[in-house]
Amino acid sequence: MRIVRYHAHGSPEVLVTEETDLPAYGPQDVLVRATAIGVDHADVQRRRGTFPLGAPSLPHCPSTDVTGVVEAVGRDVQGLAPGTRVLVWKAPAAYADYVAAPASRVLPLPDGIDDAEATLLGSTGRVALNLLRTAAVSAGESVLVHAGAGAVGHIAVQAARQLGAARVIATAGSEEKREFVRSLGADHVVDYTAADWPEQVTEAAGGGVDAVLDGVGGKQLLTDVRLLAPYGRLVVYGGSGGDTVQPDLPVLDLLGMRTVTGFSMPAVLEHRPRQAQQAVRDLVRMVTDGSVRPVIHARVPLTEAARAHELLEERRTMGRVVLVTT
Ligand SMILES: NC(=O)c1ccc[n+]([C@@H]2O[C@H](COP(=O)([O-])OP(=O)(O)OC[C@H]3O[C@@H](n4cnc5c(N)ncnc54)[C@H](OP(=O)(O)O)[C@@H]3O)[C@@H](O)[C@H]2O)c1
Repeated sequence: MRIVRYHAHGSPEVLVTEETDLPAYGPQDVLVRATAIGVDHADVQRRRGTFPLGAPSLPHCPSTDVTGVVEAVGRDVQGLAPGTRVLVWKAPAAYADYVAAPASRVLPLPDGIDDAEATLLGSTGRVALNLLRTAAVSAGESVLVHAGAGAVGHIAVQAARQLGAARVIATAGSEEKREFVRSLGADHVVDYTAADWPEQVTEAAGGGVDAVLDGVGGKQLLTDVRLLAPYGRLVVYGGSGGDTVQPDLPVLDLLGMRTVTGFSMPAVLEHRPRQAQQAVRDLVRMVTDGSVRPVIHARVPLTEAARAHELLEERRTMGRVVLVTT
């Protein structure tokens, strides 16, 4: 089978396609023939060697969400038969024709969701819904979603409305992206490359913002804190902006009943597994009833993974990029 990996950190060209054996699977694992493979911003940062939580050991093949068909199951696996169409959440060595993963990460897929779109139900969509729940967004509130055209952002914009948010405000870095985010139902979309973006957000919210989701990070985190209404919540979940220097948290600014929380999906899965699983069930319902529309920016052949990484690095994507095996 084909596998795409890198033997050194660097530019997208370090991603090379190689031939290898099918992955081994144990008694509690499932072997899946992949059809669509999600590409994450973290894959790009890890490939560069700049992921804030550390670089992977080499050679490395990214771990990400994969949709496919069960090829075989380990002897202790129940309820999953060969031929079943499934989503694998965070499959190891995932840029490949086949992946092996514990059955606990494998979810049968309902009809009506395309394979590429279904990859968004894994970490990305689950992150979006869990972010909103961590921010405790409730009916009638205002929500600011930074990078609203991104893979996580575009689901968060739509799901915020489903959770009852009265005003959904988003930021995006180009007019094309802002138009896209408006088409998803955001009430206001702000150009956060403009110097007065904080004032534009305040005007759109009619005052302070109740909840802010920030996966871009850097200096704007300080501004986010100051944009919060009393009892407002900022949830920080990533650093796609690439700033390596983190701002000091202005603790005195939190005295106005403001809260800042860090978010990690692996931590939610470890400590609140039922909350994490509920999010997937809720997302499946929202996608099948049409209230959330997962958007695929591009379907790129597996062997052209470098091109997929370039799209993310060039900051051109709206929704998610997936690799396809056929
Ligand atoms: N904590 C967790 O458990 C968790 C889980 C999943 C993802 N994440 C993190 O969440 C963040 C977003 O992930 P994603 O999959 O939604 O990524 P994505 O689709 O690539 O979106 C990231 C967005 O960041 C914005 N951006 C700002 N500066 C950028 C730069 N220098 N280069 C590239 N993009 C830049 C871009 O929007 P504009 O052009 O509009 O600015 C882009 O659309 C990432 O940092 C990722 O690592 C965290």
